[in-house]
Amino acid sequence: MVDPKDIDFYSLGFNFIETKTMFMATHKNGKWNEGELMPFGNFEISPASCVINYGQGIFEGMKALKGKNGEITLFRPKENAKRFNFSARRMLMPEYDVDKFVDTVKRVVKENEEYIPPYDSGGALYIRPILFGYGPILGVHSAEEFKLIIFTVPVGPYFPEGFKGINLEISKKYTRAAPGGTGSAKTICNYAGTMLPAKESKARGFAQILYLDAIHMEYIEEVGAANFFAMINGKLATPRKSGTILEGITRESILELASKKLGIEIEERDMSYKELYDESCTEVFCAGTAAVITPIASVTLEGKERIFNNREPGEITNKVYKLLTGIQRLDIEDEFGWIIKV
Ligand code: PLP
Ligand code: COI
Repeated sequence: MVDPKDIDFYSLGFNFIETKTMFMATHKNGKWNEGELMPFGNFEISPASCVINYGQGIFEGMKALKGKNGEITLFRPKENAKRFNFSARRMLMPEYDVDKFVDTVKRVVKENEEYIPPYDSGGALYIRPILFGYGPILGVHSAEEFKLIIFTVPVGPYFPEGFKGINLEISKKYTRAAPGGTGSAKTICNYAGTMLPAKESKARGFAQILYLDAIHMEYIEEVGAANFFAMINGKLATPRKSGTILEGITRESILELASKKLGIEIEERDMSYKELYDESCTEVFCAGTAAVITPIASVTLEGKERIFNNREPGEITNKVYKLLTGIQRLDIEDEFGWIIKV
């Protein structure tokens, strides 16, 4: 573990830093054991384990934040627990009790409290629950033994650009998910497949790829690790839950904030990438736990760039950002009941 005194919480990126405590539980013979908190560390695994051979694994991403008065908050953790179970079902793995999940997350956060970045750093303690097929197999079928692990890492902004705005590349070469596949589950395989496209795109100067649907190569799906939003004709539009996008908790929260707090009409629908090149599209951003709300300065397809709002964060992007982060950090009253205190 890294001594928290040696961490500069004011210049964190999104990189691994070892913290003190993790939680591990085992599912064997059809039931979960109690699990235990233990020092963060390595463990043994069979070379024939299902996760290593066939990718039977899922994860979640959550954040613990510190408010001005030092209180520690979680944002809608029950939603992560429910999505974790949705992903587990899709990958033929056992579910974990929702209340127990939230309680365990709280315990892990409490144990690693010294690693939560201070309020004024803008950072967070990222919480990573994982579940995987631990037992050995050979044929393509589920493992019979599973591990649930929850660990934490102090993090800063996901994109080094922070709130300045990122440049995205629309891909007509790669897709992230196809109908009937695993796009709406948070399975580890969905991410491995985006590493090469992201690397190629970065080499061309872009922060990430904006993925299109696999059938028409026309409708926007999402950014590699965040959902997509666009202000079009004065409405806040986001791709509908097609089964191929990850149904983000931040996405859901933004839609609610925009309609209930900002009085903006919202639309969940098919959105052609061509709409982004029209003047009626005035600002775009992406959103997720890691990405928070990240303004998008430009999108480019085959060399054709569309710049938004002189590359500056747009008015609605700013407003939604202030509302969401204000609620998350206890600066704005949480009238939705989203915040759980640790
Ligand atoms: N889309 C993908 C592929 C993601 O990995 C994430 C992050 O979890 C999101 C969207 C945003 O989801 P959430 O807001 O629940 O973090
Ligand atoms: C998150 O936003 O929590 C994610 O899971 C994105 C991640 C792949 C870094």
